[in-house]
Amino acid sequence: MCGIVGYIGKKNAYPVILTGLRHLEYRGYDSAGIALFSDGIKVHKKKGRVSDLEKFIEGKDVSGTIGIGHTRWATHGEPSDANAHPHATENGDVAVVHNGIIENALTLRSFLQSRGHVFSSETDTEVIAHLIEEMENEKSKSFFDSVRRALNRLVGAYAIAALSVREPGTMVVAKKGSPLVIGVGEGEFFVASDAYPISEHTKKVVYLEDGEVAALTASGIVEIRTIENEKRTPRVKKIDLEIEALEKDGFDHFMQKEIFEQPCAVRDCLRGRLSVPPKKAPVLNLGGLRDVEEKLFSAERFVFLGCGTSWHAGLIGRRFFETLTRVPSIVQYASEFRYEDPLVRDTDVFVAVSQSGETADTLAAMKLAKERGATVLGVCNVVGSSVAREAHAGLYTHAGPEIGVASTKAFTTQIAALFLIAARCAEKRNALGPRRFGELLETLRGIPEKIGDVLGREERIRDIAERFGETKNAVYLGRGISFPVALEGALKLKEISYVHAEGYPAAEMKHGPIALVDENMPVVIVAPRGEHHEKIVSNAEEIRARKGKIIAVVSEGDASFDSIAEDVIEIPECDELFSPFLSVIPLQLLAYYVAALRGCDVDRPRNLAKSVTVE
Ligand code: G6P
Repeated sequence: MCGIVGYIGKKNAYPVILTGLRHLEYRGYDSAGIALFSDGIKVHKKKGRVSDLEKFIEGKDVSGTIGIGHTRWATHGEPSDANAHPHATENGDVAVVHNGIIENALTLRSFLQSRGHVFSSETDTEVIAHLIEEMENEKSKSFFDSVRRALNRLVGAYAIAALSVREPGTMVVAKKGSPLVIGVGEGEFFVASDAYPISEHTKKVVYLEDGEVAALTASGIVEIRTIENEKRTPRVKKIDLEIEALEKDGFDHFMQKEIFEQPCAVRDCLRGRLSVPPKKAPVLNLGGLRDVEEKLFSAERFVFLGCGTSWHAGLIGRRFFETLTRVPSIVQYASEFRYEDPLVRDTDVFVAVSQSGETADTLAAMKLAKERGATVLGVCNVVGSSVAREAHAGLYTHAGPEIGVASTKAFTTQIAALFLIAARCAEKRNALGPRRFGELLETLRGIPEKIGDVLGREERIRDIAERFGETKNAVYLGRGISFPVALEGALKLKEISYVHAEGYPAAEMKHGPIALVDENMPVVIVAPRGEHHEKIVSNAEEIRARKGKIIAVVSEGDASFDSIAEDVIEIPECDELFSPFLSVIPLQLLAYYVAALRGCDVDRPRNLAKSVTVE
C-alpha cells in the first residue's frame, strides 16, 4: 500500500525512480510524484497513474542525481494533485514520501499550525515534512538527527524517505511497521518498498528493521540508528530475484499470466520439500520448521491468521490440519483477532498466512500471539518480508512475484505449503497410517499436472463469462472444503469486475439468500465429488426450482448436474481434500474473463491495493 522509491548516486535519478514506481504500482495507483534534488528540491506530482505523472513531467527539468518517488493508495485525503506525495514544506526545504498511517497527525498538525506552518494537503504525511523542518529550526546537529527526532513524535506506521536542502548530498530513510529496503550499489544506493525495483540494479540489500533510521550518501550508508539514537550496524544480504519475472510474457494481464503460472508455482513450492523415492515412502523435508519442531509436534491447537485471500487459504489450511492431525484448529481474521483480547496458550501454534508478508493486521496479530506466548509460523511469498522475519519459523510459498492485485497463484501455493506442514505434523504425531500418508503425498505431487489440465479448459470458461453479460450480482455456493473455495471465487469476481458476489455454504441458502434468486441470478456451485455430494445436488435443485442460472464445477464424468445446470465445468477426479487446488482455477478464470470482457482494469482494480500496510 503506497510504493516508495529513492535513488542517490551518479546517474540521473529520474529514470531510475520512474521505472521503480512502475514496478511498485501494484501497491497503489491513485496518484504519483517525484522530488529531485538539483539546485534545490523540485517536486512534480499528479493525480492518476505513474504514466500520467510521466506525461505531466514531459519537458520539465528532471536533472538531479538524488531523488525520491511515490505511488499512492489514499488513506488521509482523497486522490488529488495536492494530496499526492512527495510532501514538502512551504519553502520547499524538506520533502518526504511516506507509506503508512500517522495516527496522531491531527494533534501534530494543530501544534505545527500554531508554530506558523502552513499546510497544503489533507494528508497525514505532510505533518512529517513540517515536523522535520521544525527540528531543523531547533538546530539539530544534522538532517539525520532532525528526522530521527521528528520520528520520535510520531504514533503509527511508516516507511519514509526524506530530502533536505540543508544537506544536498544526503537522503534519510526510516521504517516502523511498513517495509523499506535499501539496495547497495557501487557508489549508489536504491531505496524501495520491496526488493523488486532494486533487483535490476543490485542484488545486495539491507532490510531496515522497525524503528531504524539510516542516512545515505552516494559514498555509503553514513549511519543507521534507532529512533532512540542507538547505533546499529547495517546487515547486507543477497537477494535472488530477477526483474524479468515481472514482465507479462505475452499475456494480456499479470493476473492471467499468474493464473497460468500455477502448475509451475505449486511445483516450486513442493520442490526440495516433498520427494518420493522409487518404491519407497514419500519423504518430507521442511527445513524452515526445524527450529520449532518440538512445539509444532506437540501443539494443542492451531490458529490460522490472514486477510483476504490469505484468510481463505487459512480456512482450507484449518481443514487440512484437523483432518490430518486431529488437533483442534481455528481461523481468525487477523484484523479482528487483535482486538478480541484473545486467549492464547503457549501450547498454541499460530500460522500467519500472507502473500506479501507486509499486511499490517497480520503482522500485528502475529506479534500479539508471540507476546502472549504462542509459537508463530509464517507462510508467505515475499522473501525477507516482515512476516518472514517476525515468525519463529515457517515456509516460503515460492510462487514468484505476484503483481495482479487479485491473488491467484499465491492462494494455491499457500494451500500447498499448509498441506505440507499439516502432513509433517500428522507424520510426527502418528496421526495417519503410513499408507494414507503415502497416498496423500503422492496425490499432492500430481496436483500441478491436474491444475494444468483445468487450465486447458480456458476457452469453455471464457464462453461462460461472455454469457455473464451485464449481470450485477452472483452467488457462489460450496459445502465442506468447497465452501472457502466459493468465498474465494466470489471475492475474485467482486474485486476485479465490480459484480456484487456472495459466497455461502450451500445449505445456508434457504435461510435467507435464496430470496435473491431469480432467472437473472448466476449461481456458481462448487461441487466436486465427495462425501456429501448428493446434499449439494439437492441444494442445486432448490436453486433450479427458483429459476437460478447454475454454473457447476464438478468432477470429471459426474452427470448429476447435467439436467440442473446451464453450464458444467469439469475438473479432474481427485481426493476431495485436494479439490480446492483444482476447483478454484475455473473460478479465477471466470472472474478474470468477466472483468476483462467488461473492460475493467484487471491488474489494478479501483480502490484496492496489493499490499495493505495500514490497519
Ligand atoms: C489485499 C489484497 C488481497 C490479499 C490481502 C492480504 O487486500 O488485495 O489480494 O489477499 O491484501 O494480503 P497478503 O499479502 O497478506 O496475502
